[in-house]
Order: sequence, then structure tokens, then C-alpha cells
Amino acid sequence: MATKSILITGGAGFIGSHVVRLFVKKYPEYRIINLDKLTYAGNLENLRDIEQAANYVFVRGDICDYEMLKKLFAEYAIEGVIHLAAESHVDRSIKDPFTFARTNVLGTLSLLQAAKEAWDGQWDGRLFYHISTDEVYGALELGGGFFTEETRYAPHSPYSASKASSDHFVRAFHDTYGMPTLVTNCSNNYGPYQFPEKLIPLFINNIRHRKPLPVYGKGENIRDWLYVEDHARAIDLIFHRGKVGETYNIGGFNEWRNIDLIRVIIRTVDRLLGNPEGYSLDLITFVTDRAGHDLRYAIDSSKLKNELGWEPSLQFEEGIEHTVRWYLDNQLWLDNVTSGAYEEYYQKMYGNK
Ligand code: NAD
Ligand code: DAU
Repeated sequence: MATKSILITGGAGFIGSHVVRLFVKKYPEYRIINLDKLTYAGNLENLRDIEQAANYVFVRGDICDYEMLKKLFAEYAIEGVIHLAAESHVDRSIKDPFTFARTNVLGTLSLLQAAKEAWDGQWDGRLFYHISTDEVYGALELGGGFFTEETRYAPHSPYSASKASSDHFVRAFHDTYGMPTLVTNCSNNYGPYQFPEKLIPLFINNIRHRKPLPVYGKGENIRDWLYVEDHARAIDLIFHRGKVGETYNIGGFNEWRNIDLIRVIIRTVDRLLGNPEGYSLDLITFVTDRAGHDLRYAIDSSKLKNELGWEPSLQFEEGIEHTVRWYLDNQLWLDNVTSGAYEEYYQKMYGNK
């Protein structure tokens, strides 16, 4: 008998699938409803191991569909929302900003409004938890400090502008209506089930096929990398123990210059494939820089450590080894995603997207 219904949006995506898996396994007393539109980035293969669980429900739907959301809140008496559904890739946002405004801004607003209507001022035991990104803070100089929860928003890409806007709407619902909300801003995640348009899985896949590795600009941009299961653990902790109305930054204190990270990936893939050391270095291809490419992101997550005791559990070397192994061991997953075969399967199951 479920004690609580929790709606997780975007649960068929990269981070969402890890959050859904963690909650379904750890909280058999909760009913976990995974609402996902199954865009190109959503893949039910990511959840095969838990899809039969008694406390798991999958609903295919769009967070912009307000009428559907109202029915969903009523049908399942949803008490908590963990909102991950989004368009997430910066390069796509540069080509098609409207889709990002629609899903990330209007979709988040629709979800907030549906929760507000359903909860009708009865806030006790209710929580709307919004998952956001460090990119809303803009860019840091080399060696120029960290993003804290007090850093002013200064988004540069259409993606980060849309996420910043959604963060503001969430806080506006807290400040205006008193809705219990939480926002977290996290750094770059890596690990299994990430769509191979993002740097790490793209490069692992390209090395495997002896395809060029397109390094934007000079490869000098810096990102802070966090293993995805550590992010999921932080989300669990903050959902249950975070202070309502607050923002928490989540990061790995693990900064890497892209070109250095790429060399680590090449070394690891070559070793695991039995290639001689340095074999795939010739695949590195410097290409035109990403427009508006933020130089450096670095998160100060000491508030989360001091207040809730969270720390990343995995050393980067261990995380990257595990990640590379996972993609090499799951080549069928990669091939289905890159060929689009997984989408044909959904079209049969659910009709066209
Ligand atoms: P992803 O692109 O892998 O997954 C997004 C999921 O949302 C997909 O399953 C997709 O089908 C679904 N979705 C998209 N539009 C939808 C809509 N209109 N209605 C319902 N579902 C929809 O993304 P991710 O990398 O897992 O990121 C998840 C969240 O975490 C996003 O909000 C992102 O901004 C945030 N985030 C990501 C990172 C990162 O490094 N990947 C870091 C910090 C924050
Ligand atoms: O910081 C958090 C963000 O991290 C999340 O909010 C985003 O959803 C997520 O996509 C990620 O954004 P990035 O733009 O940092 O990730 P991406 O993997 O696209 O790129 C990482 C770095 O590598 C970035 O500096 C751009 C560079 N890059 C990327 C690709 C895909 C390349 O040099 N070549 C590439 O082909």
C-alpha cells in the first residue's frame, strides 16, 4: 500500500533514470510516477531493470499539457514532485531555442500551476523540487573562485537562459503563493545511460568507431564533473531533508580542462580495448568553438556538505573507469541509441512522437 505518490518528470532521461531507479528500489512504500514525453533523449531501455516493480508507474506525456497534468495530480494524489524533464543540450539550444523555451519555461510553469491547483493551499507534506544547472550562473574566469548559492544569475546560452527562467518561476511560486519548493543547481554529470551527444559518451563511442573527436576551440574550457549516482543521492537527501525555499549547489570539486579530460578518456578506452597507449590520440580534431562557450564552471557545494552532510562518494578515476567500461559493455544500448532503433520501438508502442 503506497504511503505517498511522487511524480518524477524526465525519468526516462539520463539523470532522471538514475533518480527513478534509486527511489523505486529504496522506497517500496512510495508510488513513483515517471512522467516523460520520450523525446529523442528519453529511453525506456534505461529503466528495464525496474519497470515491473509494483511501486512504479510510467506515463507518457508532455509537461506542457496542462489538462493532462491536472488529471495526473488528481488520479494519483501526488504529494511530491521531482522535476527533471527538460531539453538539456546546449548545442541544440543554439540551433532551436524555441523548443527550450517551450519545455523548460512553459513546461515548468504548467507543472507548477497544476501542483498549485491540486494542492490548493494545503502545503503540509507537499514539495515541488526543481532540478537545475550551474550554467545559470554564467562563466568563471580561470582560477576565479566558485559559484555559490549567492552568485548572481548570468546565463549565456539559450539553454541556460531557459533554465534560469524556470528557476525564477519556481522561486516566484514559493514567494508569491507559499508553495514549498526547492531548487538545486548541479555541475556536469557523467555515467551510464547518458545520450551520446554529450562529451563523454560521444567521445567513447567515436573512439570505438575510429571517428574524429571534435574538440571545440582549443579545448581549454573547464567543467566540474560529478558521477550521476552521486547526484541522485544528493537529490534523495535534499528531497527528504532539504530546507524548504532554499537553493543548494551540487558539485564534485572536480575541475577538468576539456582537452585533459579527453586524453583521460582516450587512455582509458584504448587500455580497455587492448589498443597500444596513444593509439586514438590522432582522432582529436580541433573544430570551431561553440558560440558563447562558457570558459569555466566550478561549484562550491560546501553548503550541502555542512548542512546535510553530502559529499561525492566516487573518485573521478574510479568513476571514469566504471563509465567507460559501462559503455563498452553496453554496445547494444549505444548502437540502438545512435541508430534510432529505440525510437522505432516506442512508435510501435505509443504511436508517433
Ligand atoms: P536528458 O536530456 O538526458 O533527459 C531529459 C528527459 O526529459 C528525457 O527523458 C526527455 O524525454 C524528457 N522530456 C523532454 N521534454 C519533455 C517534455 N516536454 N515533457 C516531458 N518530458 C520531457 O537530460 P539530463 O541530462 O538527464 O538532465 C535532467 C535534468 O537535469 C534537466 O533539467 C537538466 O537541465 C538538469 N541538469 C543536467 C545536468 C547534466 O550534466 N546532464 C547537470 C545539471 C542539471
Ligand atoms: O554544467 C551542467 C550542464 O552540463 C548541464 O546543465 C547540461 O544539461 C549538460 O549538457 C552539460 O552541459 P555542457 O555544455 O557543459 O556539456 P557537453 O557535454 O555538451 O560539453 C562539455 C564540454 O565539452 C563543453 O565545454 C563543450 C565541450 N564539447 C562538447 C561536445 C559535445 C566539445 O569540445 N566537443 C563536443 O563534441
